[in-house]
Amino acid sequence: MRGCRSQGMKRVLVVHFSQTGQLARVVRALVAPLSEAGDVQLVEEILRPRRPYPFPWPFWRFLDAMPESVLLEAPELEPLGVRPDEHFDLVVLAYQVWYLAPAGPATAFLKSDAGRALLRDRPVVTVIACRNLWLTAQETVQRLIRAAGGALRDNVVFTDRAGVLASFITTPRWLLTGKREGFFGLPPAGIADSDIATAGRFGRALLGALRAGRERGGAPLLAGLGAAPVDPRLIFSERAGRRAFAVWARLIRLAGPAGAWTRLPLLALFCAYLVTMILVVVPPSLLAQRLLAGR
Ligand SMILES: Cc1cc2nc3c(=O)[nH]c(=O)nc-3n(C[C@H](O)[C@H](O)[C@H](O)COP(=O)(O)O)c2cc1C
Repeated sequence: MRGCRSQGMKRVLVVHFSQTGQLARVVRALVAPLSEAGDVQLVEEILRPRRPYPFPWPFWRFLDAMPESVLLEAPELEPLGVRPDEHFDLVVLAYQVWYLAPAGPATAFLKSDAGRALLRDRPVVTVIACRNLWLTAQETVQRLIRAAGGALRDNVVFTDRAGVLASFITTPRWLLTGKREGFFGLPPAGIADSDIATAGRFGRALLGALRAGRERGGAPLLAGLGAAPVDPRLIFSERAGRRAFAVWARLIRLAGPAGAWTRLPLLALFCAYLVTMILVVVPPSLLAQRLLAGR
């Protein structure tokens, strides 16, 4: 993706991390029009945690990732390939959601000195690929971008089309076993290939904006494209979940650092809480909201 810099050339930094390759596919499809353009130099920075996350996730490790994700206690990253003082006209930051918060590597980038320097005074477009709960994570990312001195200029979201309840089964199955295909009449987990195939329209819009110099203004760069549709039915449960996760995270953190066996009893309780919420609280809450919306 690198090329030589010349007069009039716009430089775009695209930062991402992906375990299964899903987010990498989304972001590469999105920026394809930029990498094919002769007047844009695209630089790709793949975040590499010093201690790699496992995939598929062992059950306890998956639960154990919650406190640090929610409390934004970021993992250490290998040094970035780009220099912190390099100039970019636009930064595209792609991340996935872990426990209603940005995934650890993205948090690490946003909080690191190098990441903050790269974001300072820069227009930033975020790209999210997750199951479907991304609102509170994006509020956090927006805050961290602002704290670094960057300006969030748009957000593109790709979510699982399977529906809230089906993906409560298919996503954990995928993450814990690596099996992504549909089963028992349920659809496959993850972002649909057809959605990824259309990601290039956002890249084409970004290319048009860069060519017109609109990244230097203050307006959204992807207005009118429906880049981040919000499902209002999920706002209430997501905000409530975020508050509850913060309490659990602090409690479990008191029992020891990540990986400590002393956290196991509380992680087991958290797991029971999570399953109860998913089975007992979420379905009636979705039904009530559907009924209220239909009145
Ligand atoms: C530990 C963990 C927690 C997750 N929590 C959420 C979540 O709260 N909301 C959501 O929509 N997706 C959640 N996901 C799904 C991810 O956002 C993402 O879709 C999936 O991990 C695949 O991403 P990747 O292979 O590109 O890394 C979670 C995934 C992991 C591994």
